[in-house]
Amino acid sequence: MRLRNRMKLEFLSRPENVSLARVAVATFATEVDFNLSDLEEIKVAVSEAVSNAIVHGYEGKPTGTVLLTATLYQNELEIVIEDRGRGIADLARALQPGTSSDPERMGLGFVFMKSFMDEVDVWSEAGQGTRVKLVKTLPGELRAQNLAES
Ligand SMILES: Nc1ncnc2c1ncn2[C@@H]1O[C@H](COP(=O)(O)OP(=O)(O)OP(=O)(O)O)[C@@H](O)[C@H]1O
Ligand SMILES: [Mg+2]
Repeated sequence: MRLRNRMKLEFLSRPENVSLARVAVATFATEVDFNLSDLEEIKVAVSEAVSNAIVHGYEGKPTGTVLLTATLYQNELEIVIEDRGRGIADLARALQPGTSSDPERMGLGFVFMKSFMDEVDVWSEAGQGTRVKLVKTLPGELRAQNLAES
């Protein structure tokens, strides 16, 4: 997989940084001609993962550090969101639709991430933190063009 571009963004676990992360990724992705609905889906998935890091990982405390890495490969955009927060003790359960540790929430964040992205991988350990990898495959015609250029 040929590396085309990469950015890293580190920010505090303040709720207003959800939109910062979303705008940064959308701007980074403009190098690729994703269609508007793909771009919208990427933004929602990033918002869900970053919100989870802030709300659950750091339990709303604004002093945690969230790390976002976006990498553009020849055929895909990969986004990794990491926190060093409380982690997820039962990951299989947390990934189930409608499951939330907060009764006020819908438990649909991972469901959105999975339905909007081509690949979602989650690593987590209680007390250590959580890392979410989101992958969106580039539109087919762009992949062909990139191959021709390389
Ligand atoms: N970064 C994280 N750190 C710790 N726990 C997490 C993290 N991300 C998710 N979780 C756990 O996984 C559960 C499911 O997450 P998901 O995003 O699907 O639902 P939710 O955040 O509870 O609700 P919604 O996203 O619909 O507001 C959360 O309730 C939480 O317990
Ligand atoms: Mg969520």
